[in-house]
Amino acid sequence: MTSSPTPTAAVYGAPPRELAERERAAVQVSPLVPGAAALEDFAPGSLSEVVMLAPPGTVERRYAVALALRALAPGAALTVMAPKDRGGSRLKKELEAFGCAVDETAKRHHRICVAERPAAPVGLDGAVADGAPRRVEALQLWSQPGVFSWDRIDPGTALLLKQLPALAGKGADLGCGVGVLARAVLAAPGVTRLDLIDNDRRAVDAARRNIDDPRAAIAWADATGDAVPLEGLDFVVMNPPFHDGGTEDKALGQRFIQRAHQALRKGGTLWLVANMHLPYEPILTPLFAKVERRADGGGGYKVFEARK
Ligand SMILES: C[S@@+](CC[C@H](N)C(=O)[O-])C[C@H]1O[C@@H](n2cnc3c(N)ncnc32)[C@H](O)[C@@H]1O
Repeated sequence: MTSSPTPTAAVYGAPPRELAERERAAVQVSPLVPGAAALEDFAPGSLSEVVMLAPPGTVERRYAVALALRALAPGAALTVMAPKDRGGSRLKKELEAFGCAVDETAKRHHRICVAERPAAPVGLDGAVADGAPRRVEALQLWSQPGVFSWDRIDPGTALLLKQLPALAGKGADLGCGVGVLARAVLAAPGVTRLDLIDNDRRAVDAARRNIDDPRAAIAWADATGDAVPLEGLDFVVMNPPFHDGGTEDKALGQRFIQRAHQALRKGGTLWLVANMHLPYEPILTPLFAKVERRADGGGGYKVFEARK
């Protein structure tokens, strides 16, 4: 006897549990959770429920919602929420534009929209095309809406690129994004290996397309954890994140610095760019033997060279 596959419930990100119930066995589908499944990979009609904490960017949000609607079975429940000031106030209209009848509530600064997957949703292909990976001509690189600074070089990254010497030996790019820093690092023939790590699957997929170099190893992982073993490195480069889920989190950048310090050999060097206001000096100074500012205040950024 053949059995039909069990319907799958999915959760996107970490919707607060007090705002929406979800099945305990729901499969995680956020690109920001290393190892999660991808909404892109579910067959049309194969999901029984989706509960989503929607991402803040309009294009990436419509892309994720359109993928969820495509993957849901007709009549299955879609719950999408977002903080009011990070897309929440636009959710109802966006869902209605896909043909959904929406029940909207407000709680804890979030808008929560509940809908059934309509029998014939409209506009899904357009929203998926708008948010899909693409080659960005201005960068001459692959990228995708939702990825950090997805269609332009970040000014902090640009400042670090100006300061970087030709590096040598083995190193890492923590929070590599689509690979802008890594490409510059790999231009130096003395580099023997470069580990690129990012927790955004979309960035990692783009970096894999942008970097075709046997010295590069690219991983979808939390760079502050030990999923990718890093030790005895000659250098680390990074423009560390300081937002987690849209909220400023200075401790995240500080954890990146601690991870870089752990990964370096004695005498190895960390090259780091940060917004001027970020308090990284109190972490760098006690950890590293020598900390020098290589650029100061340029466009609101500072660059450090820190030797272990
Ligand atoms: C400021 S961006 C820099 C991106 C790229 N290096 C550049 O210069 O354009 C920081 C990157 O860190 C990634 N990120 C955030 N938290 C992370 C974590 N815990 N582990 C790995 N990467 C993370 C983000 O997805 C983002 O791509």
